[in-house]
Amino acid sequence: MTPNFKSFIIYSSSVFILFLAISFSFSRTDYYKIKHLKLSLSSRHTTFFQSLLSFLFKTRKPIKSHSYCVLWMAPFLSGGGYSSEAWSYVLALNEYMKNLQNPSFKLAIDQHGDLESLEFWEGLPQDIRNLAIQLYQTECRINETIVVCHSEPGAWHPPLFQTLPCPPTGYRDFMFVIGRTMFETDRLNARHVKRCNRMDSVWVPTEFHVSTFVQSGVDPAKVVKIVQPIDVKFFDPSKYKPLDIASKGNLVLGEKITNSNPGKEFVFLSVFKWEFRKGWDVLLKAYLKEFSKDDGVVLYLLTNPYHSSRDFDNKIVQFVEDTGMEKPVSGWAPVYVIDTHIAHTDLPRLYKAANTYVLPSRGEGWGRPIVEAMAMSLPVITTNWSGPTEYLTEENSYPLPVERMSKVTEGPFKGHLWAEPSVSELQALMRHVISNVEEARAKGRQARKDMIKRFSPEIVAEIITGHIQNILRQMTR
Ligand SMILES: *[C@@H]1O[C@H](CO)[C@@H](O)[C@H](O)[C@H]1NC(C)=O
Ligand SMILES: *[C@@H]1O[C@H](CO)[C@@H](O)[C@H](O)[C@H]1NC(C)=O
Repeated sequence: MTPNFKSFIIYSSSVFILFLAISFSFSRTDYYKIKHLKLSLSSRHTTFFQSLLSFLFKTRKPIKSHSYCVLWMAPFLSGGGYSSEAWSYVLALNEYMKNLQNPSFKLAIDQHGDLESLEFWEGLPQDIRNLAIQLYQTECRINETIVVCHSEPGAWHPPLFQTLPCPPTGYRDFMFVIGRTMFETDRLNARHVKRCNRMDSVWVPTEFHVSTFVQSGVDPAKVVKIVQPIDVKFFDPSKYKPLDIASKGNLVLGEKITNSNPGKEFVFLSVFKWEFRKGWDVLLKAYLKEFSKDDGVVLYLLTNPYHSSRDFDNKIVQFVEDTGMEKPVSGWAPVYVIDTHIAHTDLPRLYKAANTYVLPSRGEGWGRPIVEAMAMSLPVITTNWSGPTEYLTEENSYPLPVERMSKVTEGPFKGHLWAEPSVSELQALMRHVISNVEEARAKGRQARKDMIKRFSPEIVAEIITGHIQNILRQMTR
Protein backbone atom coordinates (compact mmCIF):
# COMPACT_ATOMS: atom_id res chain seq x y z
CA MET A 1 0.00 0.00 0.00
CA THR A 2 1.56 3.34 -0.99
CA PRO A 3 1.64 6.08 1.65
CA ASN A 4 -0.76 8.11 -0.44
CA PHE A 5 -3.29 5.35 -0.61
CA LYS A 6 -3.16 4.86 3.12
CA SER A 7 -3.73 8.54 3.77
CA PHE A 8 -6.76 8.51 1.61
CA ILE A 9 -8.39 5.71 3.44
CA ILE A 10 -7.98 7.81 6.55
CA TYR A 11 -9.48 10.77 4.80
CA SER A 12 -12.42 9.00 3.29
CA SER A 13 -13.41 7.60 6.64
CA SER A 14 -12.54 10.69 8.63
CA VAL A 15 -16.04 11.22 9.90
CA PHE A 16 -16.14 7.70 11.16
CA ILE A 17 -12.79 8.21 12.82
CA LEU A 18 -14.17 11.33 14.39
CA PHE A 19 -17.10 9.37 15.78
CA LEU A 20 -14.80 6.67 17.09
CA ALA A 21 -12.29 9.12 18.46
CA ILE A 22 -14.97 10.64 20.58
CA SER A 23 -16.62 7.36 21.50
CA PHE A 24 -13.30 6.00 22.77
CA SER A 25 -12.50 9.39 24.27
CA PHE A 26 -9.35 10.21 22.35
CA SER A 27 -8.07 13.60 23.35
CA ARG A 28 -9.21 16.74 21.58
CA THR A 29 -5.72 17.16 20.23
CA ASP A 30 -6.22 13.98 18.23
CA TYR A 31 -9.45 15.31 16.87
CA TYR A 32 -7.82 18.49 15.68
CA LYS A 33 -4.97 16.51 14.18
CA ILE A 34 -7.44 14.41 12.25
CA LYS A 35 -9.27 17.48 11.10
CA HIS A 36 -6.05 19.13 10.01
CA LEU A 37 -4.99 16.05 8.13
CA LYS A 38 -8.33 15.92 6.44
CA LEU A 39 -8.22 19.53 5.32
CA SER A 40 -4.70 19.34 4.01
CA LEU A 41 -5.40 16.13 2.13
CA SER A 42 -8.61 17.11 0.52
CA SER A 43 -7.45 20.46 -0.75
CA ARG A 44 -4.58 18.88 -2.64
CA HIS A 45 -5.98 15.68 -4.00
CA THR A 46 -9.65 16.17 -4.66
CA THR A 47 -9.83 14.25 -7.90
CA PHE A 48 -7.73 11.34 -6.75
CA PHE A 49 -9.80 11.25 -3.61
CA GLN A 50 -12.95 11.10 -5.67
CA SER A 51 -11.82 8.17 -7.72
CA LEU A 52 -10.67 6.40 -4.59
CA LEU A 53 -13.99 6.98 -2.93
CA SER A 54 -15.75 5.59 -5.95
CA PHE A 55 -13.42 2.58 -5.79
CA LEU A 56 -14.21 2.08 -2.10
CA PHE A 57 -17.90 2.22 -2.79
CA LYS A 58 -17.59 -0.31 -5.58
CA THR A 59 -15.42 -2.71 -3.62
CA ARG A 60 -17.27 -2.81 -0.36
CA LYS A 61 -18.16 -6.39 0.29
CA PRO A 62 -20.77 -8.09 -1.88
CA ILE A 63 -24.34 -7.25 -1.01
CA LYS A 64 -27.39 -9.31 -1.75
CA SER A 65 -29.32 -8.09 -4.76
CA HIS A 66 -31.87 -5.30 -4.47
CA SER A 67 -30.39 -3.84 -1.35
CA TYR A 68 -30.87 -0.30 -2.51
CA CYS A 69 -29.60 2.53 -0.36
CA VAL A 70 -30.66 6.05 0.44
CA LEU A 71 -27.50 7.93 1.37
CA TRP A 72 -28.45 11.12 3.22
CA MET A 73 -25.58 13.61 3.11
CA ALA A 74 -25.94 16.67 5.33
CA PRO A 75 -24.11 18.72 7.96
CA PHE A 76 -25.16 16.21 10.64
CA LEU A 77 -22.33 17.28 12.94
CA SER A 78 -22.60 21.07 12.59
CA GLY A 79 -25.54 21.72 14.90
CA GLY A 80 -26.89 24.42 12.55
CA GLY A 81 -30.26 24.69 10.80
CA TYR A 82 -29.63 22.11 8.06
CA SER A 83 -28.19 19.84 10.72
CA SER A 84 -31.30 19.72 12.91
CA GLU A 85 -33.46 19.43 9.80
CA ALA A 86 -31.44 16.48 8.49
CA TRP A 87 -31.55 14.74 11.87
CA SER A 88 -35.33 15.14 11.98
CA TYR A 89 -35.65 13.35 8.60
CA VAL A 90 -33.18 10.59 9.38
CA LEU A 91 -34.68 9.85 12.80
CA ALA A 92 -38.18 9.84 11.29
CA LEU A 93 -37.14 7.50 8.46
CA ASN A 94 -35.21 5.19 10.76
CA GLU A 95 -38.17 4.79 13.14
CA TYR A 96 -40.59 4.28 10.27
CA MET A 97 -38.44 1.65 8.55
CA LYS A 98 -38.18 -0.40 11.74
CA ASN A 99 -41.89 -1.12 11.41
CA LEU A 100 -41.78 -2.14 7.75
CA GLN A 101 -41.84 -5.87 7.00
CA ASN A 102 -39.64 -5.58 3.99
CA PRO A 103 -38.09 -2.17 3.52
CA SER A 104 -37.16 -1.56 -0.10
CA PHE A 105 -34.01 0.34 0.81
CA LYS A 106 -31.42 0.83 3.53
CA LEU A 107 -30.54 4.15 5.09
CA ALA A 108 -26.99 5.51 5.17
CA ILE A 109 -25.61 8.89 6.24
CA ASP A 110 -22.49 10.94 5.71
CA GLN A 111 -21.27 14.30 6.91
CA HIS A 112 -21.19 17.03 4.24
CA GLY A 113 -21.85 20.71 3.76
CA ASP A 114 -20.50 22.38 6.89
CA LEU A 115 -17.90 22.03 9.62
CA GLU A 116 -18.20 19.55 12.44
CA SER A 117 -18.73 20.83 15.95
CA LEU A 118 -17.31 18.63 18.67
CA GLU A 119 -19.55 20.32 21.27
CA PHE A 120 -22.62 19.48 19.24
CA TRP A 121 -21.58 15.84 18.82
CA GLU A 122 -20.83 15.50 22.50
CA GLY A 123 -24.20 17.03 23.35
CA LEU A 124 -26.14 14.43 21.32
CA PRO A 125 -27.78 11.65 23.33
CA GLN A 126 -25.83 8.38 23.27
CA ASP A 127 -28.54 6.50 21.34
CA ILE A 128 -28.41 9.07 18.55
CA ARG A 129 -24.62 8.86 18.43
CA ASN A 130 -24.84 5.09 18.19
CA LEU A 131 -27.37 5.38 15.42
CA ALA A 132 -25.11 7.83 13.58
CA ILE A 133 -22.22 5.39 13.70
CA GLN A 134 -24.43 2.52 12.61
CA LEU A 135 -25.90 4.46 9.67
CA TYR A 136 -22.47 5.70 8.66
CA GLN A 137 -21.36 2.08 8.31
CA THR A 138 -24.26 0.98 6.11
CA GLU A 139 -22.80 -0.72 3.07
CA CYS A 140 -24.02 0.51 -0.27
CA ARG A 141 -23.29 -0.13 -3.91
CA ILE A 142 -22.74 3.15 -5.62
CA ASN A 143 -24.92 2.19 -8.63
CA GLU A 144 -27.77 1.15 -6.33
CA THR A 145 -27.73 4.25 -4.16
CA ILE A 146 -30.05 7.26 -4.16
CA VAL A 147 -28.17 10.23 -2.73
CA VAL A 148 -29.85 13.12 -0.94
CA CYS A 149 -27.62 16.21 -0.82
CA HIS A 150 -29.20 18.13 2.02
CA SER A 151 -27.34 21.41 2.19
CA GLU A 152 -26.97 24.72 0.46
CA PRO A 153 -26.33 24.29 -3.26
CA GLY A 154 -22.86 25.88 -2.93
CA ALA A 155 -21.81 22.67 -1.17
CA TRP A 156 -22.95 20.44 -4.02
CA HIS A 157 -20.49 18.88 -6.42
CA PRO A 158 -18.16 20.64 -7.17
CA PRO A 159 -18.34 22.45 -3.82
CA LEU A 160 -17.49 26.16 -3.63
CA PHE A 161 -15.90 25.68 -0.21
CA GLN A 162 -14.02 23.02 1.71
CA THR A 163 -16.35 20.09 2.23
CA LEU A 164 -16.86 16.48 1.17
CA PRO A 165 -18.66 16.95 -2.16
CA CYS A 166 -22.20 15.72 -2.67
CA PRO A 167 -22.67 13.56 -4.64
CA PRO A 168 -19.16 12.40 -3.68
CA THR A 169 -18.06 11.24 -7.12
CA GLY A 170 -20.05 13.53 -9.39
CA TYR A 171 -23.45 13.05 -10.97
CA ARG A 172 -22.93 9.89 -13.02
CA ASP A 173 -22.08 7.01 -10.72
CA PHE A 174 -25.09 7.07 -8.44
CA MET A 175 -28.47 5.73 -9.33
CA PHE A 176 -30.34 8.97 -8.59
CA VAL A 177 -29.33 12.28 -7.03
CA ILE A 178 -31.61 14.58 -5.04
CA GLY A 179 -30.81 18.10 -3.83
CA ARG A 180 -32.66 19.23 -0.69
CA THR A 181 -32.49 22.95 -0.03
CA MET A 182 -34.49 26.15 0.49
CA PHE A 183 -34.18 29.93 0.48
CA GLU A 184 -35.85 32.79 2.32
CA THR A 185 -36.34 35.36 -0.43
CA ASP A 186 -38.59 35.60 -3.49
CA ARG A 187 -36.10 34.02 -5.93
CA LEU A 188 -32.91 32.00 -6.50
CA ASN A 189 -29.54 33.20 -7.74
CA ALA A 190 -28.70 32.01 -11.26
CA ARG A 191 -25.82 29.84 -10.04
CA HIS A 192 -28.13 28.10 -7.58
CA VAL A 193 -30.63 27.45 -10.38
CA LYS A 194 -27.86 25.83 -12.42
CA ARG A 195 -26.84 23.62 -9.53
CA CYS A 196 -30.44 22.58 -8.89
CA ASN A 197 -30.91 21.63 -12.53
CA ARG A 198 -27.91 19.31 -12.38
CA MET A 199 -29.79 17.18 -9.84
CA ASP A 200 -32.26 14.47 -10.89
CA SER A 201 -34.73 15.93 -8.42
CA VAL A 202 -34.93 18.91 -6.04
CA TRP A 203 -36.81 18.59 -2.76
CA VAL A 204 -38.11 21.77 -1.13
CA PRO A 205 -40.21 22.10 2.03
CA THR A 206 -43.18 24.23 0.93
CA GLU A 207 -45.42 25.37 -1.95
CA PHE A 208 -43.78 28.76 -1.61
CA HIS A 209 -40.47 27.17 -2.59
CA VAL A 210 -42.01 25.13 -5.39
CA SER A 211 -43.15 28.38 -6.97
CA THR A 212 -40.01 30.47 -6.29
CA PHE A 213 -37.77 27.67 -7.61
CA VAL A 214 -39.83 27.16 -10.75
CA GLN A 215 -40.19 30.90 -11.42
CA SER A 216 -36.41 31.27 -11.07
CA GLY A 217 -35.80 28.62 -13.74
CA VAL A 218 -35.52 25.27 -11.97
CA ASP A 219 -37.01 22.52 -14.16
CA PRO A 220 -40.62 22.13 -12.90
CA ALA A 221 -40.48 18.37 -13.53
CA LYS A 222 -37.73 18.13 -10.90
CA VAL A 223 -39.20 20.15 -8.05
CA VAL A 224 -40.96 18.13 -5.35
CA LYS A 225 -42.45 19.36 -2.09
CA ILE A 226 -41.37 17.35 0.98
CA VAL A 227 -42.51 18.97 4.22
CA GLN A 228 -40.42 18.87 7.39
CA PRO A 229 -41.16 16.61 10.35
CA ILE A 230 -41.57 17.90 13.89
CA ASP A 231 -41.11 15.63 16.88
CA VAL A 232 -44.59 16.09 18.35
CA LYS A 233 -43.88 13.56 21.10
CA PHE A 234 -40.92 15.58 22.35
CA PHE A 235 -42.67 18.92 21.82
CA ASP A 236 -45.76 17.96 23.80
CA PRO A 237 -47.05 20.54 26.29
CA SER A 238 -48.68 17.89 28.49
CA LYS A 239 -45.25 16.52 29.42
CA TYR A 240 -43.58 19.62 30.80
CA LYS A 241 -43.56 22.21 33.55
CA PRO A 242 -42.58 25.76 32.54
CA LEU A 243 -38.95 26.84 32.69
CA ASP A 244 -38.19 29.69 35.08
CA ILE A 245 -37.29 31.98 32.21
CA ALA A 246 -36.87 35.17 34.22
CA SER A 247 -33.83 33.55 35.84
CA LYS A 248 -32.31 32.82 32.41
CA GLY A 249 -32.70 36.29 30.91
CA ASN A 250 -31.07 39.70 31.24
CA LEU A 251 -33.44 42.55 31.75
CA VAL A 252 -32.59 45.05 29.00
CA LEU A 253 -35.44 47.52 29.15
CA GLY A 254 -38.10 48.34 31.75
CA GLU A 255 -38.24 47.12 35.33
CA LYS A 256 -38.44 43.71 36.89
CA ILE A 257 -42.03 42.91 37.66
CA THR A 258 -42.29 42.85 41.45
CA ASN A 259 -46.02 43.27 41.90
CA SER A 260 -48.19 41.16 44.16
CA ASN A 261 -48.61 38.62 41.42
CA PRO A 262 -45.16 37.73 40.13
CA GLY A 263 -45.13 35.18 37.33
CA LYS A 264 -48.63 36.18 36.27
CA GLU A 265 -47.61 38.57 33.52
CA PHE A 266 -48.43 37.75 29.90
CA VAL A 267 -45.30 36.34 28.26
CA PHE A 268 -44.40 36.96 24.61
CA LEU A 269 -41.53 34.79 23.39
CA SER A 270 -39.42 35.11 20.27
CA VAL A 271 -36.63 32.72 19.21
CA PHE A 272 -34.24 33.75 16.43
CA LYS A 273 -30.70 34.30 15.25
CA TRP A 274 -29.73 37.95 15.52
CA GLU A 275 -30.11 39.06 11.92
CA PHE A 276 -32.11 41.80 10.24
CA ARG A 277 -34.16 39.21 8.31
CA LYS A 278 -35.79 38.03 11.54
CA GLY A 279 -37.50 41.41 12.04
CA TRP A 280 -36.38 42.00 15.63
CA ASP A 281 -36.59 45.73 14.84
CA VAL A 282 -40.26 45.34 13.83
CA LEU A 283 -40.95 43.34 16.99
CA LEU A 284 -39.33 45.86 19.35
CA LYS A 285 -41.06 48.79 17.67
CA ALA A 286 -44.50 47.21 17.84
CA TYR A 287 -44.09 45.93 21.40
CA LEU A 288 -42.66 49.14 22.86
CA LYS A 289 -45.17 51.37 21.05
CA GLU A 290 -48.14 49.25 22.04
CA PHE A 291 -47.33 48.41 25.65
CA SER A 292 -46.11 50.05 28.81
CA LYS A 293 -45.24 48.77 32.27
CA ASP A 294 -48.94 48.93 33.23
CA ASP A 295 -49.99 46.28 30.72
CA GLY A 296 -48.46 43.41 32.69
CA VAL A 297 -46.72 41.96 29.64
CA VAL A 298 -43.14 40.85 29.17
CA LEU A 299 -41.09 40.07 26.05
CA TYR A 300 -38.36 37.41 26.03
CA LEU A 301 -35.93 37.23 23.12
CA LEU A 302 -33.96 33.99 22.90
CA THR A 303 -31.23 34.85 20.46
CA ASN A 304 -27.68 34.09 19.43
CA PRO A 305 -25.17 35.90 17.28
CA TYR A 306 -25.24 35.59 13.48
CA HIS A 307 -22.19 37.29 12.03
CA SER A 308 -22.71 39.82 14.81
CA SER A 309 -21.31 40.56 18.24
CA ARG A 310 -22.99 39.36 21.41
CA ASP A 311 -23.85 42.71 23.07
CA PHE A 312 -27.57 42.49 22.35
CA ASP A 313 -28.39 44.67 25.37
CA ASN A 314 -26.51 47.63 23.87
CA LYS A 315 -27.90 46.98 20.42
CA ILE A 316 -31.44 47.13 21.78
CA VAL A 317 -30.89 50.25 23.87
CA GLN A 318 -29.20 51.90 20.88
CA PHE A 319 -32.06 50.90 18.60
CA VAL A 320 -34.62 52.41 20.96
CA GLU A 321 -32.63 55.65 21.13
CA ASP A 322 -32.20 55.79 17.34
CA THR A 323 -35.88 55.30 16.62
CA GLY A 324 -36.71 58.15 19.01
CA MET A 325 -39.61 56.26 20.59
CA GLU A 326 -41.11 57.98 23.57
CA LYS A 327 -40.87 56.26 26.92
CA PRO A 328 -44.37 55.71 28.35
CA VAL A 329 -45.16 57.65 31.53
CA SER A 330 -45.36 54.47 33.60
CA GLY A 331 -42.13 53.11 32.06
CA TRP A 332 -41.19 50.69 29.30
CA ALA A 333 -42.81 47.29 29.10
CA PRO A 334 -40.00 44.91 30.10
CA VAL A 335 -37.73 43.23 27.54
CA TYR A 336 -35.46 40.35 28.48
CA VAL A 337 -32.72 38.83 26.38
CA ILE A 338 -31.68 35.19 26.82
CA ASP A 339 -28.36 34.69 25.10
CA THR A 340 -27.09 31.75 27.13
CA HIS A 341 -27.29 28.33 25.56
CA ILE A 342 -30.62 26.63 26.25
CA ALA A 343 -30.11 22.88 25.92
CA HIS A 344 -32.34 21.16 23.39
CA THR A 345 -33.92 19.15 26.21
CA ASP A 346 -35.04 22.42 27.87
CA LEU A 347 -36.66 23.92 24.76
CA PRO A 348 -40.15 22.50 25.41
CA ARG A 349 -40.08 23.99 28.92
CA LEU A 350 -39.08 27.34 27.45
CA TYR A 351 -42.10 27.36 25.11
CA LYS A 352 -44.23 26.14 27.99
CA ALA A 353 -43.30 29.29 29.94
CA ALA A 354 -44.74 31.56 27.23
CA ASN A 355 -48.30 32.65 26.39
CA THR A 356 -47.66 33.62 22.78
CA TYR A 357 -44.86 33.11 20.28
CA VAL A 358 -44.14 36.08 18.02
CA LEU A 359 -41.78 36.43 15.04
CA PRO A 360 -42.33 39.22 12.48
CA SER A 361 -39.77 37.72 10.10
CA ARG A 362 -39.09 39.12 6.63
CA GLY A 363 -38.63 35.63 5.18
CA GLU A 364 -38.32 32.05 6.43
CA GLY A 365 -37.37 28.77 4.84
CA TRP A 366 -39.46 26.60 7.13
CA GLY A 367 -39.52 28.39 10.49
CA ARG A 368 -38.53 25.61 12.86
CA PRO A 369 -39.10 27.52 16.13
CA ILE A 370 -42.55 28.55 14.87
CA VAL A 371 -43.49 24.93 14.27
CA GLU A 372 -42.03 23.92 17.64
CA ALA A 373 -44.13 26.60 19.34
CA MET A 374 -47.23 25.40 17.47
CA ALA A 375 -46.56 21.79 18.51
CA MET A 376 -46.36 23.13 22.07
CA SER A 377 -49.90 24.55 21.62
CA LEU A 378 -48.78 28.18 21.66
CA PRO A 379 -50.71 30.73 19.66
CA VAL A 380 -48.24 32.26 17.20
CA ILE A 381 -48.09 35.63 15.50
CA THR A 382 -45.81 35.46 12.50
CA THR A 383 -45.48 36.98 9.05
CA ASN A 384 -47.87 35.58 6.48
CA TRP A 385 -45.23 35.12 3.80
CA SER A 386 -42.66 32.55 2.56
CA GLY A 387 -42.23 29.11 4.20
CA PRO A 388 -44.73 29.50 7.06
CA THR A 389 -47.63 30.01 4.61
CA GLU A 390 -47.38 26.22 4.25
CA TYR A 391 -48.95 25.75 7.68
CA LEU A 392 -50.39 29.07 8.98
CA THR A 393 -54.18 29.32 8.89
CA GLU A 394 -56.70 31.68 10.46
CA GLU A 395 -57.76 28.77 12.70
CA ASN A 396 -54.34 27.77 14.07
CA SER A 397 -52.49 31.09 14.37
CA TYR A 398 -52.44 34.85 13.84
CA PRO A 399 -50.95 35.36 10.36
CA LEU A 400 -49.33 38.81 10.35
CA PRO A 401 -50.17 40.79 7.18
CA VAL A 402 -47.37 42.04 4.95
CA GLU A 403 -47.28 45.79 4.35
CA ARG A 404 -45.14 45.67 1.19
CA MET A 405 -42.21 43.82 -0.34
CA SER A 406 -38.76 45.30 0.24
CA LYS A 407 -35.33 44.84 -1.36
CA VAL A 408 -32.63 42.87 0.43
CA THR A 409 -29.79 45.40 0.77
CA GLU A 410 -26.83 43.21 1.66
CA GLY A 411 -25.39 39.72 1.64
CA PRO A 412 -25.62 36.98 -1.00
CA PHE A 413 -29.31 37.72 -1.71
CA LYS A 414 -28.89 41.44 -2.31
CA GLY A 415 -31.50 42.71 -4.78
CA HIS A 416 -34.00 39.92 -4.03
CA LEU A 417 -37.31 40.80 -2.40
CA TRP A 418 -38.71 39.79 0.95
CA ALA A 419 -41.63 40.86 3.10
CA GLU A 420 -41.96 43.94 5.25
CA PRO A 421 -44.45 43.00 7.99
CA SER A 422 -46.76 45.71 9.25
CA VAL A 423 -45.79 47.26 12.60
CA SER A 424 -49.30 48.56 13.24
CA GLU A 425 -50.91 45.18 12.47
CA LEU A 426 -48.40 43.53 14.79
CA GLN A 427 -49.34 45.98 17.53
CA ALA A 428 -52.99 45.17 16.97
CA LEU A 429 -52.43 41.39 17.04
CA MET A 430 -50.32 41.52 20.21
CA ARG A 431 -52.98 43.60 21.89
CA HIS A 432 -55.61 41.19 20.58
CA VAL A 433 -54.02 38.07 22.12
CA ILE A 434 -53.71 39.60 25.59
CA SER A 435 -57.37 40.66 25.43
CA ASN A 436 -58.69 37.40 23.97
CA VAL A 437 -56.82 34.78 25.92
CA GLU A 438 -59.38 32.00 25.38
CA GLU A 439 -59.47 32.51 21.63
CA ALA A 440 -55.68 32.47 21.53
CA ARG A 441 -55.57 29.22 23.52
CA ALA A 442 -58.04 27.61 21.15
CA LYS A 443 -55.79 28.55 18.21
CA GLY A 444 -52.85 27.04 20.08
CA ARG A 445 -54.73 23.76 20.53
CA GLN A 446 -55.64 23.73 16.84
CA ALA A 447 -51.99 24.43 16.01
CA ARG A 448 -50.87 21.28 17.82
CA LYS A 449 -53.58 19.23 16.10
CA ASP A 450 -52.43 20.48 12.70
CA MET A 451 -48.76 19.79 13.45
CA ILE A 452 -49.60 16.22 14.49
CA LYS A 453 -51.79 15.64 11.45
CA ARG A 454 -49.44 17.04 8.83
CA PHE A 455 -45.87 16.91 10.16
CA SER A 456 -45.62 13.98 12.57
CA PRO A 457 -42.45 11.98 11.91
CA GLU A 458 -44.51 8.91 10.77
CA ILE A 459 -46.48 11.02 8.29
CA VAL A 460 -43.42 12.65 6.76
CA ALA A 461 -41.46 9.37 6.70
CA GLU A 462 -44.34 7.79 4.79
CA ILE A 463 -44.28 10.62 2.25
CA ILE A 464 -40.53 10.25 1.73
CA THR A 465 -40.68 6.47 1.49
CA GLY A 466 -43.40 6.81 -1.14
CA HIS A 467 -41.19 9.08 -3.24
CA ILE A 468 -38.19 6.79 -2.86
CA GLN A 469 -40.25 3.79 -3.94
CA ASN A 470 -41.45 5.68 -7.01
CA ILE A 471 -37.88 6.51 -7.93
CA LEU A 472 -36.84 2.87 -7.47
CA ARG A 473 -39.73 1.73 -9.66
CA GLN A 474 -38.76 4.17 -12.40
CA MET A 475 -35.08 3.29 -12.24
CA THR A 476 -35.52 -0.45 -12.24
CA ARG A 477 -38.27 -0.76 -14.81
C1 LIG B 1 -24.51 -2.51 -9.88
O1 LIG B 1 -23.22 -3.04 -10.11
C2 LIG B 1 -23.09 -4.41 -9.74
C3 LIG B 1 -21.63 -4.81 -9.91
O2 LIG B 1 -21.01 -4.09 -10.91
C4 LIG B 1 -24.04 -5.25 -10.59
O3 LIG B 1 -23.93 -6.60 -10.23
C5 LIG B 1 -25.45 -4.76 -10.33
O4 LIG B 1 -26.37 -5.47 -11.14
C6 LIG B 1 -25.57 -3.26 -10.62
N1 LIG B 1 -26.88 -2.84 -10.23
C7 LIG B 1 -27.70 -2.15 -11.02
C8 LIG B 1 -29.01 -1.73 -10.46
O5 LIG B 1 -27.39 -1.85 -12.15
C1 LIG C 1 -52.11 35.02 4.09
O1 LIG C 1 -51.62 34.91 2.78
C2 LIG C 1 -52.41 34.15 1.89
C3 LIG C 1 -51.74 34.13 0.56
O2 LIG C 1 -50.45 33.60 0.67
C4 LIG C 1 -53.82 34.75 1.78
O3 LIG C 1 -54.62 33.93 1.00
C5 LIG C 1 -54.41 34.90 3.18
O4 LIG C 1 -55.64 35.58 3.09
C6 LIG C 1 -53.46 35.69 4.09
N1 LIG C 1 -54.02 35.73 5.44
C7 LIG C 1 -54.02 36.85 6.16
C8 LIG C 1 -54.65 36.76 7.49
O5 LIG C 1 -53.54 37.89 5.75
